[in-house]
Amino acid sequence: MTNSSCIQEIGEQLLDSSKSLTDRFRALFTLKNLGGSEAIDIIAKGFYDPSALLKHELAYCLGQMQDKYAVPVLTKVLEDKSQEAMVRHEAGEALGAIGASESLEVLRKFENDSIPEVSETCQLAIQRIEWLNNRNTSEGDKLSSNPYHSVDPAPPSLDLDIPRLKGALLDENRPLFERYRAMFSLRNTGGRDAVLALAEGLKCKSALFRHEIAYVLGQMQHEAAIEQLTVNLADSEENPMVRHECAEALGSIAKDNCLNILEKYSLDHERVVKESCIVALDMLEHEQSDQFQYANTMAEMKQAVHQET
Ligand SMILES: [Fe+2]
Ligand SMILES: [Fe+2]
Repeated sequence: MTNSSCIQEIGEQLLDSSKSLTDRFRALFTLKNLGGSEAIDIIAKGFYDPSALLKHELAYCLGQMQDKYAVPVLTKVLEDKSQEAMVRHEAGEALGAIGASESLEVLRKFENDSIPEVSETCQLAIQRIEWLNNRNTSEGDKLSSNPYHSVDPAPPSLDLDIPRLKGALLDENRPLFERYRAMFSLRNTGGRDAVLALAEGLKCKSALFRHEIAYVLGQMQHEAAIEQLTVNLADSEENPMVRHECAEALGSIAKDNCLNILEKYSLDHERVVKESCIVALDMLEHEQSDQFQYANTMAEMKQAVHQET
């Protein structure tokens, strides 16, 4: 099969709403792996789907692919106020991940958006692009390396001291970008103390910040965070984007008690929460099968791409 007909075939899986979300996610991550403009064009067609979970993952993947070819479609999604906040947020974040200076204009247009998740995302993306543009190489050399190979919304801070990083992380008076830098430095440092410090962040004011904390805890897959992630998932007043990320993180940690919790919330009335739990459970169920040989959980699938490249 030629690369092109292979991409088309996988694209059909992604865009077929009669397929399970799990199958569609697998197709999406495969397209992300393959990369290139044809894969991006197909992913772009998915933004008319009724599932916000799927759409936000499309935007996430386009950002992680770091291909400037995706800038116009992501710009359109960020501008489209009929898209869910979670989807617009992810489009803005993806523009920051691609890091093209040409995106500064649209990001500035929405840095004061009425939806805090969107405005804060745009502010962070602007700061990341400015940081990339002004970066001096000597700082780059000193930064801790990211064991998960994701493209993050902020670089890690230079500090490696856990108590000091925890102080910066939880300080509501510091700029969000600085707190994100502390977050990624804690994640790269790893270990129980870093996990516990990060989990404290699940109580912070910004929903965007809490969702990123949950994302990072999912990457770390450390059981010390199960209880704290469960508290936010169980809170029906919590922002659905945060609850979704907690569910996915619990799916990645994948201990027996996580599975029970996911089963409970796979019946949640909030669609993104329910779908996140169903997809996480589905992926874990296939863990032993050879249907998808190189990754089992969503977190591992997201990671697989970067290990190959
Ligand atoms: Fe996000
Ligand atoms: Fe997410």
